[in-house]
Amino acid sequence: MAKKGGSEFVCQNCGSIYPKWQGKCDACGEWNTIVEEKVGGDGFSNLPAKKKGKLLEFVALSGEETALSRIPTGIKELDRVSGGGLVPGSAILVGGDPGIGKSTLLLQVCASIANAPTHPECYYISGEEAIDQVRIRAKRLGLEQSPVKLASTTDVKDIIETLNKSDAAVVIIDSIQTMYLEEVESTPGSVAQVRACAYELIKLAKKKGFVLFLVGHVTKQGAIAGPRVLEHMVDTVLYFEGERGHHFRILRAVKNRYGATDEIGVFEMQDKGLVEVENPSALFLAERQGNISGSCVFAGIEGSRPVLVEIQALVSPTSYASPKRAVVGWDSNRLAMVLAVLEARCGMNLSSQDIYLNIAGGLKISEPAADLAVAMAVISSMTNKPLPSDTVIFGEIGLSGEIRAVSQPNSRLKEAHKLGFASAIMPASYKKDKKLNNHEMLIHEIGNVQRLINWFN
Ligand code: TYD
Ligand code: MG
Repeated sequence: MAKKGGSEFVCQNCGSIYPKWQGKCDACGEWNTIVEEKVGGDGFSNLPAKKKGKLLEFVALSGEETALSRIPTGIKELDRVSGGGLVPGSAILVGGDPGIGKSTLLLQVCASIANAPTHPECYYISGEEAIDQVRIRAKRLGLEQSPVKLASTTDVKDIIETLNKSDAAVVIIDSIQTMYLEEVESTPGSVAQVRACAYELIKLAKKKGFVLFLVGHVTKQGAIAGPRVLEHMVDTVLYFEGERGHHFRILRAVKNRYGATDEIGVFEMQDKGLVEVENPSALFLAERQGNISGSCVFAGIEGSRPVLVEIQALVSPTSYASPKRAVVGWDSNRLAMVLAVLEARCGMNLSSQDIYLNIAGGLKISEPAADLAVAMAVISSMTNKPLPSDTVIFGEIGLSGEIRAVSQPNSRLKEAHKLGFASAIMPASYKKDKKLNNHEMLIHEIGNVQRLINWFN
C-alpha cells in the first residue's frame, strides 16, 4: 500500500491496487479503469494514524448467545429474502440496473417500517434526487403521509453528525456512489470514496444499532459498481433484477450473514409502485399459450419455494457457417452441454440449426434441474410437435444422457398440481422413494434422454 499522503492507482472495476499507472488491469482484464487516488491515514479514512494496540480477550466457542431480534418490514417478500426481517445494526447493499425500481422499493420499505405501531425513526437520504422528486414518487405511491424523515444530501460528514444524535432504526442511503467524504481526495463514485463512505456509515450503523440500506449501482457486467470490497463490508447483498420490458422484479440475496442466500422475492412493478407477488408461478405462466411446439413448463425451485416457468426454444435451419446459439435467462454453457448430449447420445443433428432459448417472464434460472425441460423444448421445436400443455417437466441431464434425480420432487409436483397440471415428466430415480406421493398426477418416469425422445415420438 502507498505511503500516507502518497498516491496509488486503483482499478475502478475490481478495486485492484497498483504502484503506477497502467492501461489494462491485470486482475480483471479491463482497459482504462485505473485511476490515481490519494491515500490518507490507513488508506480508508480518518482513523487516528497511530494508536497503540491492546491485548485481546479470548472466549470459548460455547456461551450465551443473544437471540437476533428482527424488524419485520411489513413486506413479506423482503422478509423472506432477508431471512425473516431486518437485523438491527446490519448493513444491506441493494444493487440493480438503473431504473429497475431500487428507490421505489426502498421508499416503500422505509414507509412501511415507519408506519409500524412503535413508530421507529426511518431516514431516507437521497444523493441522487432532489426532495421534490422523492415527494412526487411518495405521492404516486400513496405514501406521502408516512412519518419518514427525508433529506437530500451527499455529504457523509453531515449524515454521520445527524444520525449520531438521532434514534434511527432504519437509514436508507440512495446511492452510495453519490456520497463523498471531504478527507478523501477523489471524486464521488470512485473506489476510494465509495469504500471510505461505506466504511464510516457501516461503523455508525453497528455503533447505533440501526439497519443501514446502501443502494449501489451496477456496471454493465452486472457487478456492483466500484469495489468488490463493498460486498465484503456489508452483511447482506441483495440484487434487484428484472428484464426491461417486463414488469416482474426479482429480489435475490447473493450474500446474507443472517439468512439463506438462495431465496427470492417476487414483485410486480405497477403504476402505484411495487406489489408483492404471492404466487409467482401463476404470474410467470399467465401469458402462456398452449399447444405450441418448442414450449414446455419447468417445475423449478427458487430458494424454498417452487416456481413454474415456461421455457421456450426455437430451432431453425442456419444461414451462417457456424450456427447461432442465443440464450436469455439461462446459462449458455449449460445449453451447449444439453445440445452436445442430444447430438452425441441421441443422434440428433443440430449443427445445421440455429437455436434460441428463452425463459419466459424475465426470470433467470440457474438450476441444473432445468436441463430436461430445455432438452424437451429443443426436441419439441425440432420436431415441430407440441408437448401436452398440462405437463410439467424437471430433471438434470448427465453427460452419458442419463437423467438424474433433483431435490424436492414433492414440492415441484404439489405446485404443478395446484396450478392445474395433470402430468409430469421426471427422473426415474425416485422409484424407491416411498415419500413421493403422486399428487393425483400422471407421472412419466424417464431414465435417459433417448427414452424421452422415444416417448415423445
Ligand atoms: P426507480 O425506483 O427510480 O429505479 P432505480 O432507483 O432503481 O433507478 O424506478 C424507476 C422506474 O420505475 C421508472 O421507470 C418508473 C417506474 N415506476 C413505476 O412503474 N411505477 C411506480 O409507481 C414508480 C414509482 C416507478
Ligand atoms: Mg434510484
